[in-house]
Amino acid sequence: MASLTVRQLDETLKQQLRLRAARSGRSVEDEVRTILKAAAEESEAPAPVAKAAPGPAPATKVANKRVLLIIGGGIAAYKSLDLIRRLKERGFAVRCILTAAATQFITPLAAGALTGERVFTDLFDPASEFDVGHIRLARDTDLVVVAPATADLMAKMANGHANDLATAVLLATTAKVLLAPAMNPQMWANQATQRNLAQLKADGVTMTGPNAGEMAESGERGTGRMAEPMEIAGAVDRLFAAQGERPLAGQRVLVTSGPTHEPIDPVRYIANRSSGKQGHAIATAAAQAGADVTLISGPVTLPDPPGVKLIKVESARDMLRATEQALPVDVAIFAAAVADWRVANAGEQKIKKKAGESIPDLLLVENPDILSAIAHHIDQRPALVIGFAAETENVEANAKAKLARKGCDWILANDVSPQTGIMGGDSNTIKLVTADGIEAWPPQSKDDVARMLIARIAAAMKAPKA
Ligand code: CTP
Repeated sequence: MASLTVRQLDETLKQQLRLRAARSGRSVEDEVRTILKAAAEESEAPAPVAKAAPGPAPATKVANKRVLLIIGGGIAAYKSLDLIRRLKERGFAVRCILTAAATQFITPLAAGALTGERVFTDLFDPASEFDVGHIRLARDTDLVVVAPATADLMAKMANGHANDLATAVLLATTAKVLLAPAMNPQMWANQATQRNLAQLKADGVTMTGPNAGEMAESGERGTGRMAEPMEIAGAVDRLFAAQGERPLAGQRVLVTSGPTHEPIDPVRYIANRSSGKQGHAIATAAAQAGADVTLISGPVTLPDPPGVKLIKVESARDMLRATEQALPVDVAIFAAAVADWRVANAGEQKIKKKAGESIPDLLLVENPDILSAIAHHIDQRPALVIGFAAETENVEANAKAKLARKGCDWILANDVSPQTGIMGGDSNTIKLVTADGIEAWPPQSKDDVARMLIARIAAAMKAPKA
């Protein structure tokens, strides 16, 4: 058979294929070939001798990682439904246990619809014991996430109780455990909870959150809100990265991020609408992939990404200086929205407004192009130089022209027209422009764009040089 054409794939499946291909650094066609090959090999493998019961669906091969999500009984349980989606987006196979209290807040049906698997609720349910059994449920997982982790669940865990399915599995598992506590601030602050927390940490349990802010009870504020689903998913990524999944280990990666501020005088400046979210997400993803990351950031209001060397700068010229000092690196990603011009006649003192006098003219001069300078560096050009193209029209044509003009290897082009909401927003739609052509990525969160880019970089850095 020379070729195969598959028609009538629905949009969701196409999107899953594109994401999967991008994550593994293959074209969609190659990805489909890989799937078909694996399926053919599997069908040729000898059939299992006997099958006791129709077990749960095998873990997806997308990431080959299984996450068991234990949902405790708290109002934050509704966020755990979103967490299932976030974990599935990353390719994890997710199974859920709902405690009896959790079923008061969300239904097993909702969790099951999102996981695509049956949901477990009861230790003494003969069907679930016959099907998998709590010991197998505890064993057949790479990570257990407890979200929300209530004060009661934490207390039971800290003391080794096992009087329901969730706690029995937690006691039986040898997998890593991640807790996302959620409770009333007084319950969180209570000595008993803090004692349990210390015990759990000493037992090797990892925590994400709780965050400070408004509580579900009206008028209540304080520390006790469950971490947001994306934060929990980020903690899951970090845990797997820490378990040895570090495709960029040993690589030095430089990322520029955020806007630059070009002074008019000591109190005024010219800036742009960049939030730095995309650049910071890339730095975070690179660090999670094991890279040694230097992040050079213009002024942003984002938290400092964990595990990166952060250099804070103000102007384009500061950013160029810091970037040159950070060389040599293996990969450089220029996500900053660098101001094209600076004020040549910036005031040393605050320019005063004088009634009746003419308004001051600002004389603009061009800033250095940092990406172009590094891409054309004579002796320290990184092996892979990646730029962004922020466009409001003719996105592909402008991006192709930028790729050639700036001398970089890849350009991630995005449409930053106000109606797209990309500038300052949480999601992005990228066209990856390389010498080989243009690849349209699906609309996704900036975190997912970052992960997809890092997977592509890891594949490119591994591939033998042409
Ligand atoms: N860039 C840079 N230094 C500059 C200007 C841009 O390093 N002085 C980098 C950006 O970080 C980005 C790429 O160049 O990776 C393209 O930036 P963009 O703002 O899209 O393009 P400009 O070069 O500014 O061109 P134009 O404003 O005409 O679109």
